[in-house]
Amino acid sequence: MKKNFLKKIWIVDFGSQYTQLITRKTRELGFSSEIITLEECKTRYDDMKYPECLVLSGGPQSVFEDENDYHFIFAQRNIPVLGICYGMQLLGKYFGGVVEKGIIGEYGHADIVFDPTFEITHTPNKMSVWMSHSDHISKVPKDFDVIMKSSNHLVAGIRHRELPIMGLQFHPEVEHSKHGKSILEFFYREVADLKKDWNAQEMMEESLEIVKKAKDSKVLCAFSGGVDSLVAATMAQKVLGENLYCFFIDNGLLRLQDYRHIEILKKETYLKIEIVDAKYDFLLDLNEVSDPEQKRKIIGKTFIEIFEKKVHEYESKYNIHFEYLLQGTLYPDVIESISPHEKNGKSVTIKSHHNVGGLPERMKLKLLEPLRHLFKDEVREMGLSLGLHRDWVYRHPFPGPGLGVRILGEIGPENIKMVQDSDQILFEELIEAKLYQSTWQAFTVFLPIKTVGVKGDGRAYEHVICLRMVNSSDGMTANWSHFPHEFLECVSRRITNEVKGITRVVYDITSKPPGTIEWE
Ligand code: XMP
Repeated sequence: MKKNFLKKIWIVDFGSQYTQLITRKTRELGFSSEIITLEECKTRYDDMKYPECLVLSGGPQSVFEDENDYHFIFAQRNIPVLGICYGMQLLGKYFGGVVEKGIIGEYGHADIVFDPTFEITHTPNKMSVWMSHSDHISKVPKDFDVIMKSSNHLVAGIRHRELPIMGLQFHPEVEHSKHGKSILEFFYREVADLKKDWNAQEMMEESLEIVKKAKDSKVLCAFSGGVDSLVAATMAQKVLGENLYCFFIDNGLLRLQDYRHIEILKKETYLKIEIVDAKYDFLLDLNEVSDPEQKRKIIGKTFIEIFEKKVHEYESKYNIHFEYLLQGTLYPDVIESISPHEKNGKSVTIKSHHNVGGLPERMKLKLLEPLRHLFKDEVREMGLSLGLHRDWVYRHPFPGPGLGVRILGEIGPENIKMVQDSDQILFEELIEAKLYQSTWQAFTVFLPIKTVGVKGDGRAYEHVICLRMVNSSDGMTANWSHFPHEFLECVSRRITNEVKGITRVVYDITSKPPGTIEWE
């Protein structure tokens, strides 16, 4: 029988910047959850589809301006509801309490204290949390108890006396809220009475189900060897077998480690991987181009052209007609496209990211996205359960345009070699010093300026390599990695000694924001 993959917990997104985090923490606790919009929630309710539990996220708006009708949510009185921040104010308003206006959008630390009658096992009754100074409940609805207060006596948490409904003025999902995860767990287990249902096997089953629809078709995968495409392909191969074809496009802008990695994958996995040598095409198209956005666009466009050419070649030469395109799209990309933030046009394009999602319609390939319900950590977990090597599953992210955005200015063979050689040295030293996993991403950037130096007995006038190493959890914000000076010195010494054309190495100590992780 086909399984119903609607998740147990629906997280209604009111536009909070932390909605994804609520989902991640919920899944880490072992409960399946998904993000939906208020409209989607309404549609499902109209179709008589209900969750086992509902979480109302925070949001930038105020209950004083919100004209939406929430009766449909609260009319289902047996469904547990957790309201977070704005979600709690909605609860307060709906059940007849009084909400007072505050300063919208301001967050900060606050200390909260549990009511003496309320306790959560293994959790202190006083803790520091991340709370907004936005609207707050000044008079609690009559059927609710106050379970927590802030040190300045604001209502920080409420719980209905009979129904499984709870509200929190602060954000339990963020790291700043100590023990926030225990509070979430308390709600799911004790208030909502849910059983854990989210584990590696569930993830796998759901992904396999997606692939099964392409079972007897020819499927193409744009394979980069990165964790997403590797896990997607390895998992899909179990269903598709010989019908899965992986194309690894060599655009000439890859790191030395990528060339080695793909050779190992060819040897050590059952994947059918064809390496398409397109170095020359990319170099030619990028000739004399130095504008970052133009470079990205050209790399994306050339990628599609090469891909299309390959598909035609398979049709004409081997009579193989591809019906599906397998992609390692992850949940955050899927949510981005439904987020109310995006819909209101509040986000701006900082850099145009290039993904194969933009394949032209004329290719008539249907998309197969078996990881679209998963976060990166979950994909890694699935990779391990598929038997993939830890080193493959925990590789640093590498952008689609590759070294193209790490060579500032024009791209030429000499510059590519300098950035490849220096990147390889950094990679080797990170492994040697056991620091590779202590950073989210580490790479070198070629700077098209010359500085004076001394090499041997003579004066040198050569280029500069910049080291970029950052710590991050999702690439949206980042801090530069504080690595030991001895390590930096060793990398610098090796690069200036071994990479022809480089006399100077600098370290980028900019966080994001204001800097981005990549330089272009
Ligand atoms: P930025 O430079 O925007 O990078 O701070 C954030 C993360 O995204 C990666 N990145 C890309 N990934 N295509 C990708 O697939 C791209 O065009 C692209 N640009 C940046 C970057 O490496 C970092 O992990």
